[in-house]
Amino acid sequence: MAEEAKQTCYEGSSVQSFQFYLEHSGEHGAILQCVNDHLPAEFKRIGAGKSSLDVLGAGSGGGEMDVQILTLLQSTFPTVPITADIVEGSTQLTDNFKALVAKTSNLQKIPFSWHIMGSEDFVKQVKAKKDVKKFDFIHMIQMIYYVDNLADTIKFFQSLLKNNGRLMIIIEATNGGWDTLWKTYHKDLCVHAITEYRSSGEVIACLKSQGLKYEEHAIPNSYDITECFDPSSPTGQRLLNFMTAQDDFHQSYTPEIRAGILDLLRNKCSTEKDGRVIFNSALSCILVHA
Ligand SMILES: C[S@@+](CC[C@H](N)C(=O)[O-])C[C@H]1O[C@@H](n2cnc3c(N)ncnc32)[C@H](O)[C@@H]1O
Repeated sequence: MAEEAKQTCYEGSSVQSFQFYLEHSGEHGAILQCVNDHLPAEFKRIGAGKSSLDVLGAGSGGGEMDVQILTLLQSTFPTVPITADIVEGSTQLTDNFKALVAKTSNLQKIPFSWHIMGSEDFVKQVKAKKDVKKFDFIHMIQMIYYVDNLADTIKFFQSLLKNNGRLMIIIEATNGGWDTLWKTYHKDLCVHAITEYRSSGEVIACLKSQGLKYEEHAIPNSYDITECFDPSSPTGQRLLNFMTAQDDFHQSYTPEIRAGILDLLRNKCSTEKDGRVIFNSALSCILVHA
């Protein structure tokens, strides 16, 4: 019997939790700003003299960022054919991505290959083939927390780059709010899909140890978590659930741990502005060379 592809934790209620987080955090807006600031020049260089361009997105989720990236590449090279391969472990998010593609008219010219599986299964499939497809641009946006082995994953996807290609990894910044929260409370938080918390520091250490060339760009972002400190606020509860990867933050820990997490969120991960608690969710964009 064929082995069933491993799914990610992004199914059912966790998809809603993630969508709620995206609406509240402004994360996609911050990433889009970085894409628009840095990718036009990168794309001109990556695509110079090429007669076709191949893009791979790993952990693309609902594809909101992919659509923007592909549209930008298309507008940079309007006459060059582009292909897109998507490696995504959530069927539900892939369905959302397909629906988004269907209503984005400029993307109808781009053939999509959907690999609905975790990156680990994709690696196995590619390794079993003789003809390996290579890519001009590969991106992993907010997904590298979930892969089994960071070093092997980076090494493998970097090896799929064509001449002049780039691998873009977007991840929480080292010493940002998420990094501080998850590293301080790793024993309590790293118990489900994420067993080892990673931020840009771990990715860069890995790139250095593999001797890979890269550039790093900061992506500033912050969002209001004031409501997390009001136990009767549904918004606060939903944010806390997503930020601690729990179904119900208030049912999940001892009162001491909950109080410790809330204290850390307020005093070490945030700044206060006009009486509001503003969480530092700075990200990092790392462009790895072929
Ligand atoms: C935080 S979401 C980010 C989604 C999207 N890149 C974005 O920024 O909106 C993480 C995504 O990675 C996917 N994922 C998790 N582990 C994966 C793996 N091993 N291989 C491929 N995708 C994975 C999840 O299903 C989810 O869509």
